[in-house]
Amino acid sequence: MKVEDRAKHAQQQAYTPYSKFKVGAAIVMDGRTYEGCNVENASYPLSVCAERNAIAAGVADGARHLEEVVVCTDSSPPSSPCGGCRQVLREFCKDPAKVTVTSINSKGERRSWTVEQLLPDSFSGAELP
Ligand code: THU
Repeated sequence: MKVEDRAKHAQQQAYTPYSKFKVGAAIVMDGRTYEGCNVENASYPLSVCAERNAIAAGVADGARHLEEVVVCTDSSPPSSPCGGCRQVLREFCKDPAKVTVTSINSKGERRSWTVEQLLPDSFSGAELP
């Protein structure tokens, strides 16, 4: 299945009784594709975004290098990842200028950025002593 189809599939699994805003993410890490969806909670701040759940799936499988991200929502124009997710995606980029994030919707619209464009001059582990 194409990475975009995996993102669409993940969107269908989203647990969003509060916002009703369903997000699916499919990410490629170390050549394998992982899915995540947003999972909300009655204690709202405990909700977790789709992108972060996809990263967690990859990391739990032993993957460490992010290569590509596709996000699927019902937004028009297609929505971009939240600030927190941008930082989490950046953590696993060898070169943030080479990792593409594409956002799609069911109308066939798409927007694309690199992680560098979404989070310029980012903080990373390289800053730490
Ligand atoms: N959401 C994501 O899953 N990813 C984002 O990048 C933006 C927001 C989710 C969180 C919450 O479940 C819903 O969308 C509304 O904010």
